[in-house]
Amino acid sequence: MAKLLFLICLLTYVDSSTLELGASIVALSRGLESRTNIVYTEATQPLDVYSQISQALSHIPSLLLKNDYARLFDNSLHLPQPLLMILPQPNQGQIQTIFGQLPEQMEQSDFLIVGCDSAANWLHLLSTLWQLGYPNVLIFNSSNELGSGQLYTSDSFPQQQLRRSSIEHYLWARRHWFDRLVGWEVRVALYNNPPRTLVYPDQELYDGYALMLLREFLAQRGARFVPVLTPNYKVYSPNDCLRFLQLNQSDICGDVLAFSSNFSFTASYQYLYGNILIPYSLPISKNYYIIAPMQLKTWLLLTLYIVMICGFASFICWLQLGRWEYGKLLLEILSSLLCVGFRLNDIKGSQRYILFCTIFLSGFICSNYYLAFLATILSTGLYEPQINSFEKLVEQNISIVIGDYDKTVLKSYDYPDILWNITRVVPYDFILAHRRVFDTNYAYLAHSDRLALFDFQQQYMAKPRMRPLPIDLMHSLPGYPMRRQRYTLAI
Ligand SMILES: *[C@@H]1O[C@H](CO)[C@@H](O)[C@H](O)[C@H]1NC(C)=O
Ligand SMILES: *[C@@H]1O[C@H](CO)[C@@H](O)[C@H](O)[C@H]1NC(C)=O
Ligand SMILES: *[C@@H]1O[C@H](CO)[C@@H](O)[C@H](O)[C@H]1NC(C)=O
Ligand SMILES: *[C@@H]1O[C@H](CO)[C@@H](O)[C@H](O)[C@H]1NC(C)=O
Ligand SMILES: *[C@@H]1O[C@H](CO)[C@@H](O)[C@H](O)[C@H]1NC(C)=O
Repeated sequence: MAKLLFLICLLTYVDSSTLELGASIVALSRGLESRTNIVYTEATQPLDVYSQISQALSHIPSLLLKNDYARLFDNSLHLPQPLLMILPQPNQGQIQTIFGQLPEQMEQSDFLIVGCDSAANWLHLLSTLWQLGYPNVLIFNSSNELGSGQLYTSDSFPQQQLRRSSIEHYLWARRHWFDRLVGWEVRVALYNNPPRTLVYPDQELYDGYALMLLREFLAQRGARFVPVLTPNYKVYSPNDCLRFLQLNQSDICGDVLAFSSNFSFTASYQYLYGNILIPYSLPISKNYYIIAPMQLKTWLLLTLYIVMICGFASFICWLQLGRWEYGKLLLEILSSLLCVGFRLNDIKGSQRYILFCTIFLSGFICSNYYLAFLATILSTGLYEPQINSFEKLVEQNISIVIGDYDKTVLKSYDYPDILWNITRVVPYDFILAHRRVFDTNYAYLAHSDRLALFDFQQQYMAKPRMRPLPIDLMHSLPGYPMRRQRYTLAI
């Protein structure tokens, strides 16, 4: 309480005395190019403290919050970043209440904590905040009632020492907390997921583009890469990886995953979209070729022609000979259509020649037309129409096989409802076994980075079997999931 009263006194005589604090805040805010300031006060502190500080900060939007942590959490989420928070020195209980509940994005924010305490207590506060994931903390130890004081911050990670600072030093130091990690161990949970991660512990091979990037980053910072294999590491097992983070069995996953609010994530450096790998349409059955050259209407017209011309010819035959001869004439007309010779011996006189010419011409045109089309079809081959929409995919009833992790992700991303009916959740071993040989009985989920791999594999097949549906879903900016309350590794 005495401390608090002291702070109140300190902040009340702003005019003459907080020059240093005020000037420090302004310099800090400028240096950080902060777009918002939050000044948090206890209820016992008078409001004019804020007006004094805000005069000094007139060029930056500032927000005063009083004695209500809940509002601190709500407001800080929606404020433009970067953000500078000015807080009175919290006691041990308040640290958990305030920092334990701040939204994860706030880990990147800057905090100026104003108070008066011994070096040991300040160091304790700093290390607690580090462990909670807040490295950017500057301390203003007000050494006298005139509000002038000394700035303190910590040495870079992993040494924890209180060191005297200045605004310039802090602005430099905050970009270099994690530059030299001097052999600090980072436990990386691993599973095999080409092309992002390739994990072969027998040969000590930990590769793939995502894992390579992470290892390069760790090496550059001087940290040590400690591989931790997930139980079923031979197949994609993101759920195990995330469980390891929760159980503190690893610090980071070696793979990039879609953002979810349950974990901390590194910044994303790539853009990915999901797609569905579907089978190419199959060639149409050979029997279909017989009727393929002509449309249904043409076939019907042809039948009508046969019936009519046959009826007419047998009518003439009846007039001349008194018998119908329907069957015989039908065979002759069919012969004409098949380009086989025909005679019309049953009909006499000029009618015979007229009918003969008509039937001959029709048969000749029709049969050649058919043969020409058949030739073009046989030289190119006929396929079912390709699947180009979700509706067609559902119609064909091809099961899309996904794993349990994919299901949670798809539920929070823009997966079309219509596809759920044909989506089946199966173990990742199953997916791997079938996808490896491009089993066309199933459709598979594939991200843009993996599509290139599938294309590459299929160029060695006699005929490519699967292709991506030309509709992209699930656009995401994935990052490496980290243990919550981890020191932020800013990639
Ligand atoms: C902060 O100021 C107080 C009062 O002058 C002083 O006793 C204390 O040692 C200072 N703390 C540090 C870390 O210098
Ligand atoms: C997590 O595990 C590491 C290593 O086993 C241990 O040093 C650390 O204290 C643990 N952290 C928590 C928060 O349990
Ligand atoms: C996040 O955690 C909550 C509660 O623990 C759980 O219900 C939800 O499914 C989780 N979300 C993801 C994407 O894992
Ligand atoms: C779709 O396929 C599934 C399994 O492959 C089968 O159980 C289901 O009956 C099929 N539905 C239709 C409408 O054919
Ligand atoms: C899924 O299938 C059920 C039963 O066949 C049907 O009633 C429902 O409309 C389908 N849902 C979608 C989104 O197509």
